[in-house]
Amino acid sequence: MIKAIIFDLDGVITDTAEYHYLAWKALATEVGIDFDETFNENLKGVSRMESLELILKHGNRQDDFTKQEKVTLATKKNEQYKTLIKRITPGHYLPGIKELLMEIKEAGYKIGVASASFNAPTIIDRLAANNYIDYIVDPGSVDHGKPAPDLFLNVADHFSVRAESCIGIEDAKAGIEAINRAGMFSVGVGTGTAIKEADLIVQSTSELSLERLLLAAGS
Ligand code: G6P
Ligand code: MG
Repeated sequence: MIKAIIFDLDGVITDTAEYHYLAWKALATEVGIDFDETFNENLKGVSRMESLELILKHGNRQDDFTKQEKVTLATKKNEQYKTLIKRITPGHYLPGIKELLMEIKEAGYKIGVASASFNAPTIIDRLAANNYIDYIVDPGSVDHGKPAPDLFLNVADHFSVRAESCIGIEDAKAGIEAINRAGMFSVGVGTGTAIKEADLIVQSTSELSLERLLLAAGS
């Protein structure tokens, strides 16, 4: 029986995936690396430092910076990202997500957020979503990021529920793999092949409802 629903944040609750893309693109351009939306798909769900490594590798520049310089580059991207997320208001949920959160809350299920982002609490605050969300994972508290299952399992642990009693919702390849490896029912949002391993696939968040999720998960 399903007891908890666990959301990814960026690209599922709100469109911050776009802001991550813009901030990384600006940084990549600055260090002379081509960066487009196709390559950006590889970064979704991936931690800040790992994303930087992938970008530098993509431009064959992974050996051109010291560890400290890489931290400086990642910090620069994050500063740009923090400027962009100042635009977020309670009107910036992806379609149907606010209604879905309200529906889940009212029905008494637990709601968790399993994001790799250290900015997640700020974004949840800006959306005024704290009333719906019972728990946000601290990405610094788990050993491995997505595609490892740790972030999702951390939420199940916090709620003291079994993984099989959780549904996870994601927009990224690494995220779907994390949910599947956690042994939870996976829901992929999007139109590309990134989410093809999900148990249930919807093209847009507007197609999600509690009833559809529970039916699909056989609960
Ligand atoms: C999420 C996003 C990634 C981002 C990561 C870390 O997983 O999908 O694009 O790199 O969080 O986010 P942060 O805000 O801590 O840099
Ligand atoms: Mg995402």
